[in-house]
Amino acid sequence: MTITTLPDLLDKMWSDYTAMNPQALKIYNSFLERGDQVQNDHIAFRTFNHPKVTIDVLARPFLESGYEYRQGYHFTAKKLYAKHYEHPNTQMPRIFISELKLEEFDDDLQNTINQLVDQVPDYATQQFDFCSNGRPWEVSYETYEQLREKSEYAAWMAAHGYRPNHFTVFVNALSSFSDIREVNEFIKQNGFKMNDSGGEVKGSKDVYLEQSSTLADTVEVDFSDGTQSVPACYYEFAQRYPQPNGELYQGFVANSADKIFESTNKSQ
Ligand code: NI
Repeated sequence: MTITTLPDLLDKMWSDYTAMNPQALKIYNSFLERGDQVQNDHIAFRTFNHPKVTIDVLARPFLESGYEYRQGYHFTAKKLYAKHYEHPNTQMPRIFISELKLEEFDDDLQNTINQLVDQVPDYATQQFDFCSNGRPWEVSYETYEQLREKSEYAAWMAAHGYRPNHFTVFVNALSSFSDIREVNEFIKQNGFKMNDSGGEVKGSKDVYLEQSSTLADTVEVDFSDGTQSVPACYYEFAQRYPQPNGELYQGFVANSADKIFESTNKSQ
């Protein structure tokens, strides 16, 4: 099926994501069983700042579907830049896209990533659903491990390519929980592990946003030199607070997201 509309793209991404990350579907269903409605706060994507596959390339189908750019974020230590987009219909998830700043790495990593991106045919990036078409290159597990020494983010991208890195439950819309801490307890009681890098809850009421996330599921990935188990995707939770003007904060907090990125680290 050719995907040409936003609703079809969102459906495809959710079904691919839950097929690859069964924990997300189990958690989603456990909220429904409690009688909660699950609203999606945001969907996050990753890429490289190589001109062929920048944030702006990934953002294209969303901009064509009415999304608007809102804000940019710098992650100095992880050498990332990100942008977030919102849709006029506030029921629609925000879109968060980050890119690895290749020029801040050594020639070796840059050459490796260029060799991957060179394998992407031009027509592929033109497709409406490019951001969810998976890995458009061949890569070895040896290369994956070499990348991981310099950037867990680069290694994740090399292994998985283009697909949502995570979906996010909007905690404010869960009627049976009073806050994100109760949600975290519920997740753990159900047997899932939370990312506790920087504390289980990232952010605070003072920055109008609290976030937490599960640790990524592990999946079998076919590399050119064999199949290996590597971290896949995680499920995130976000609670938003009103700003002094009374409106809920709509953006992201770089310091919090910095730690959330580590939910796909292999070392965990
Ligand atoms: Ni997120």
